[in-house]
Amino acid sequence: MAPLIRGRELLESAVSYALAGAALGTPQLMQRPTPCPGWDLETLLDHVSDSIGVLAEAITAAGAGAGAGAARPGYPGPGRDLVVRLRGQAARLLGACAAAGPAERRVAIWDRELTASVVAVTGAIEITIHGWDISFACGGHRPVPPRLAAVLLSIAPLLITPGTRPGLFADPVRLPGPASPGDQLIAFHGRQPRPPPRPGLAAAEPSPRRMPVRGDSRESGWSISVGRQQAARSPQEHDRTGATDMTIADMTVLVTGANRGIGQALVTEALSRGAKRVYAGTRQPLAHPDGRVTPLTLDVTDAAQIQAAAESIESLDVLINNAGIALFDDLSDRAVLEQHLAVNLFGPYHVIQAFLPLLTRSRGAIVNNVSTMAVAPLPLTPAYAISKAAAFNLTQSLRALLAGRGVRVHAVLTGPTDTGMTRGFDIPKASPESVARAIFDGVDSGEEDIFPDPASQSLAASWRSGAVKALERENAAFVAAAPAAA
Ligand SMILES: NC(=O)c1ccc[n+]([C@@H]2O[C@H](COP(=O)([O-])OP(=O)(O)OC[C@H]3O[C@@H](n4cnc5c(N)ncnc54)[C@H](OP(=O)(O)O)[C@@H]3O)[C@@H](O)[C@H]2O)c1
Repeated sequence: MAPLIRGRELLESAVSYALAGAALGTPQLMQRPTPCPGWDLETLLDHVSDSIGVLAEAITAAGAGAGAGAARPGYPGPGRDLVVRLRGQAARLLGACAAAGPAERRVAIWDRELTASVVAVTGAIEITIHGWDISFACGGHRPVPPRLAAVLLSIAPLLITPGTRPGLFADPVRLPGPASPGDQLIAFHGRQPRPPPRPGLAAAEPSPRRMPVRGDSRESGWSISVGRQQAARSPQEHDRTGATDMTIADMTVLVTGANRGIGQALVTEALSRGAKRVYAGTRQPLAHPDGRVTPLTLDVTDAAQIQAAAESIESLDVLINNAGIALFDDLSDRAVLEQHLAVNLFGPYHVIQAFLPLLTRSRGAIVNNVSTMAVAPLPLTPAYAISKAAAFNLTQSLRALLAGRGVRVHAVLTGPTDTGMTRGFDIPKASPESVARAIFDGVDSGEEDIFPDPASQSLAASWRSGAVKALERENAAFVAAAPAAA
């Protein structure tokens, strides 16, 4: 039996993915149809919150019997804002998981007794699939993160067999050619991962409401509540949602520090992915052969330049705060620390404030290129590490604060990369090109914290399943998600 830690990791990734999709859900979208026939977005969000609540209660009850801590009461419960409710339930579940005991512990789900690890894996599948449904209904069409999809894909066929599928899911959708793990997972669960665009159907009729049924889970066989409503749907029904496929191809991107190193690679990568326009922020004049690149004079410590840059742009989907400095020091000179904070902390802070109205309007994304040194300093560059730790913390707070506006906020915990910044360090380094690719992959797949190179990747799994990340999510649940003024 796989240890619970594995199931917990899966659950946490699934919850993180579903919350990223749900962050796109505004009150205006609540009557949108979803891939679940007869369910609009409001019904689906309510249903997923119920399911997560059932999971949290079951895991808490099982843990409490053996002295494990219970999920803390007092998180946002049922309320009018369904996205807030989902976040609150997710925080309860993650808290329950963190306090859970061994994988073999028996967990009661209604009248069934299962092991904790089976419950966690089953819950991860349900939350992931419905996370995709939510994102689809919101028009986000976020792919399931490849690593999560690959693991679930290896487990799902053991749980969803020809015998158990009827009544849970439509037949698997046959894909025409090679497909990503995310698309394969979605297709296996009877959904069309990438429906062809159907112009004119974007404003689909709201689906007839089905009242949410608390305790749906009871009737759903092996699952907590998974996909019971899928049975009657035909693959064609997906097309009715008219959701758009938001990839970098249709986007407007701004990169700071775009003239060299990782910034330059990000510009090239955005262009190769078909970005509509790339604003290249640089301190010195820049000429670029691609007509889609618009140079912007942008010293991130210069308030007037930031303001002028923001006023010169009409729309923006993705802001990448990449500009940075790293100097050797020993913390004996306060001026060096202030210099790092000015560029690496207050630089992104002011740039974000200036571009936030545009990002709010586009329901876009902010990507802050921090560093693994945000979580573990290299004492040769402590002022740099302090500034990156602060920038990472800024990223975490903004993630929670801006979710209600539909703006996603990503941190990139970059490891050693072969640029001017690491010249002289004789250590293994990733290429800036591979880091840039991984950053856009992470943004596309909705990863909150992106680990874009082999060195940082070694931290990814433990970070995502760790107590610190769980606490970040718990704390974030306290932020009201009521849309704030732009
Ligand atoms: N390389 C690594 O190993 C590594 C690891 C972790 C994180 N990172 C982060 O990745 C980002 C990019 O670093 P890199 O490796 O590509 O370094 P780099 O080659 O030294 O490039 C730094 C970029 O930042 C720009 N910049 C510096 N101060 C600026 C300011 N005040 N306003 C606007 N732009 C400014 C530079 O412009 P000029 O040409 O005008 O100086 C340059 O374009 C940084 O935030 C860095 O902390 C890098």
